[in-house]
Amino acid sequence: MADDFNIVVASPRHLSLVETWAGRNEATHTLLKTPRDPSHGTSSGQYWAALNGQEVVAIASIELNSEHVGYVNCVVKPGYLRQGIGSRMIEYVLSQPSVKNLAHLHAVVDPTNIAAQKILNKDGFSRVGNDENGNLEFARHAQK
Ligand SMILES: CC(C)(COP(=O)(O)OP(=O)(O)OC[C@H]1O[C@@H](n2cnc3c(N)ncnc32)[C@H](O)[C@@H]1OP(=O)(O)O)[C@@H](O)C(=O)NCCC(=O)NCCS
Repeated sequence: MADDFNIVVASPRHLSLVETWAGRNEATHTLLKTPRDPSHGTSSGQYWAALNGQEVVAIASIELNSEHVGYVNCVVKPGYLRQGIGSRMIEYVLSQPSVKNLAHLHAVVDPTNIAAQKILNKDGFSRVGNDENGNLEFARHAQK
């Protein structure tokens, strides 16, 4: 499956489709609506969708806060987990020129989310602490 889908810039229709299967997922709430911590002051975001035909099987995003720190996020549709889609989506986001230019990337994950931690470690992120909700915060800084 991981090689069978297309990644496209997400349209509003893609984002609304995701809400049908991930509306109550906290990560998706963060992804689609508001920053987890309003003090991050998210100012802009880019979103990508993984499509299997017309079906949205994952969504990934980068949101910038006012200090130009990029927050990476990804949600894979239940039923499509553990097929390498999350890994490929995050690698795709990290390879985008607009993302490569960012000096500081962060990601916030639930401590129980082993898959996200594996993906972030594999992509050069390190644990930098916990947020105020007990989630793990990861960061990757560009080489000077
Ligand atoms: C995090 C998430 C995107 C991963 O998506 P995925 O497509 O299932 O992940 P992958 O199939 O690419 O797996 C990545 C790695 O985690 C491992 N993995 C996947 N699910 C796992 C699980 N439940 N337990 C342990 N390891 C797991 C895979 O074996 C793979 O390891 P490898 O690189 O050593 O082979 C998905 O779990 C999700 O949507 N979670 C909810 C949203 C969220 O919390 N996002 C986190 C912000 S980045």
